[in-house]
Amino acid sequence: MEELLTLPPCRVIIIGGGVSGLATACSLMKDYDLDDYCIYDRQTSLGGTWNANIYPGCAVDIPGFCYSYSFAPNPGFTQLFPSQAEILHYLLVVAKQYRVDQHFKGGVEWTAASWQDKSRTWLVTLKDIQTQRVFRQESQILISAVGGLVNPCEISIPGADRFKGSIMHTARWKNDIDLTNKHVAVIGNGASATQVIPAIIDKTKSVTQFMRSPHHIVNATNHQISPEWRNLLRRVPLLLHLIRLLLFLYMEITWFRFQNNRLGKIGRESVKNRSRTYVQDTAPKIYWDMLIPTYEFGCRRRIFDRGYLATLHKSNMFLTDDPILEISEDSVITHSGEAFRVDTILLATGFALTQYDVDLRGRNGKTREQHWKQYGHKATYKSIAMHGFPNFFYILGPNSGRLYTSTIQIIESCYGNASHQTNTSPPSLIGGGQKHPRAGI
Ligand SMILES: Cc1cc2nc3c(=O)[nH]c(=O)nc-3n(C[C@H](O)[C@H](O)[C@H](O)COP(=O)(O)OP(=O)(O)OC[C@H]3O[C@@H](n4cnc5c(N)ncnc54)[C@H](O)[C@@H]3O)c2cc1C
Ligand SMILES: NC(=O)c1ccc[n+]([C@@H]2O[C@H](COP(=O)([O-])OP(=O)(O)OC[C@H]3O[C@@H](n4cnc5c(N)ncnc54)[C@H](OP(=O)(O)O)[C@@H]3O)[C@@H](O)[C@H]2O)c1
Ligand SMILES: *[C@@H]1O[C@H](CO)[C@@H](O)[C@H](O)[C@H]1NC(C)=O
Ligand SMILES: *[C@@H]1O[C@H](CO)[C@@H](O)[C@H](O)[C@H]1NC(C)=O
Repeated sequence: MEELLTLPPCRVIIIGGGVSGLATACSLMKDYDLDDYCIYDRQTSLGGTWNANIYPGCAVDIPGFCYSYSFAPNPGFTQLFPSQAEILHYLLVVAKQYRVDQHFKGGVEWTAASWQDKSRTWLVTLKDIQTQRVFRQESQILISAVGGLVNPCEISIPGADRFKGSIMHTARWKNDIDLTNKHVAVIGNGASATQVIPAIIDKTKSVTQFMRSPHHIVNATNHQISPEWRNLLRRVPLLLHLIRLLLFLYMEITWFRFQNNRLGKIGRESVKNRSRTYVQDTAPKIYWDMLIPTYEFGCRRRIFDRGYLATLHKSNMFLTDDPILEISEDSVITHSGEAFRVDTILLATGFALTQYDVDLRGRNGKTREQHWKQYGHKATYKSIAMHGFPNFFYILGPNSGRLYTSTIQIIESCYGNASHQTNTSPPSLIGGGQKHPRAGI
């Protein structure tokens, strides 16, 4: 057997080069002056979500003023809700500024990690995806910044293997796909589907969308930020901070809608009403019943519509909630027996929450799976640490998601928290895992 390659140890290993991993790396440099770290990602470049989701129409639904780091405000966004390309560009600029690109190695899959009590280090197993070579590296701190929406949910539909056209998930978009004059099927009606459809419809011969359950859809217009405004924001950083603060406050206030009290109920009802009115004002009447949810607002993120409902009026656009039965060589066949001719199938089916399946073993070889089984849920301390897994931290870990504000704010509070939970204070940063076995955990 080939001998396992072992890389020289480093103090911190970060898995994931998205917003979370990048923020953590920047923090190591600016807050701890720590250069001895490695950042790995299975994708070949930095950016995470914003590197993977390059489907047409992809954008944020949180104002760019707030979808940016507190330590790297960006006066340069050209739109209130910037496109995927602008966000990715922003992240790459920050990565360069903080020299994170020099520590990044892409095309590497993290497959396992185990705590070594003797050396008080993590032994991390990684695989070079291209060469399939497995290698190992030790670190004192291991940070999981693997994201929440990373493993596309590739649904299996009977007959998919005989389909002659291509099937592609929105998060695996290839720029060489040509939809010109194609009959396209889109499966799903979440945010990804709602963004991609208006962006491709005019190119295609037709789009047939297969939906299951409705979402609360609300009106959202984008606003251009003029060069004059951008200049002003560049010259008066205080103004940029003030806008950011006000927008964050506004989003924080909307939290009341998620409370289980009378005010919260009224708030939810008002969103539901607004959404219903918007659908009735904008979408063809034949689709109203399909599009308007009867369940309460609050469990799922709202869909911010910039053109999707209007698209439903187009003669080459069809929406159906007839469940898919199977796929033939050139069609999608539904339960009622109807066959829709299609050339390309786009899966806008979201993500499987399998990012925590990686084999992680803490003290005494206890696995993460066993740990969570013992508690009956994905138990963590403040969503960043787990008892028995010393110096292992999550950024945007279990139960950290928030529907009403920018994920970047959550991410920044995660690593802020994590750095308080390491066993010694900066600049030494790392303590013995056993000296204070319960430090904060
Ligand atoms: C299309 C889309 C739009 C979104 N829009 C918004 C928005 O408007 N506002 C908002 O707040 N949030 C939005 N989100 C959520 C978004 O995911 C977060 O805002 C944020 O980008 C998460 O950053 P992250 O670094 O935690 O995760 P990611 O960006 O997902 O990065 C995680 C990285 O870890 C890597 N990775 C995972 N497992 C492994 C492994 N085992 N080995 C190697 N590498 C691994 C992945 O390849 C990935 O690059 C959106 C998500 C999607 C998919
Ligand atoms: N900022 C943005 O504007 C933006 C853009 C894209 C994504 N996002 C975020 O990213 C996350 C994922 O969004 P997404 O739109 O990619 O996915 P999603 O919200 O999970 O939606 C997936 C869609 O696929 C359908 N689906 C899943 N499995 C199916 C199956 N087996 N058969 C038929 N239909 C199936 C779902 O139907 P059911 O609803 O019936 O399950 C749903 O309509 C969300 O949190 C979203 O907020 C945000
Ligand atoms: C959506 O919002 C824009 C701007 O606020 C407004 O001009 C438009 O009329 C709204 N559309 C509907 C259908 O409410
Ligand atoms: C929502 O609409 C219903 C039905 O039209 C109405 O009775 C209710 O008062 C509205 N609620 C709010 C908060 O707007």
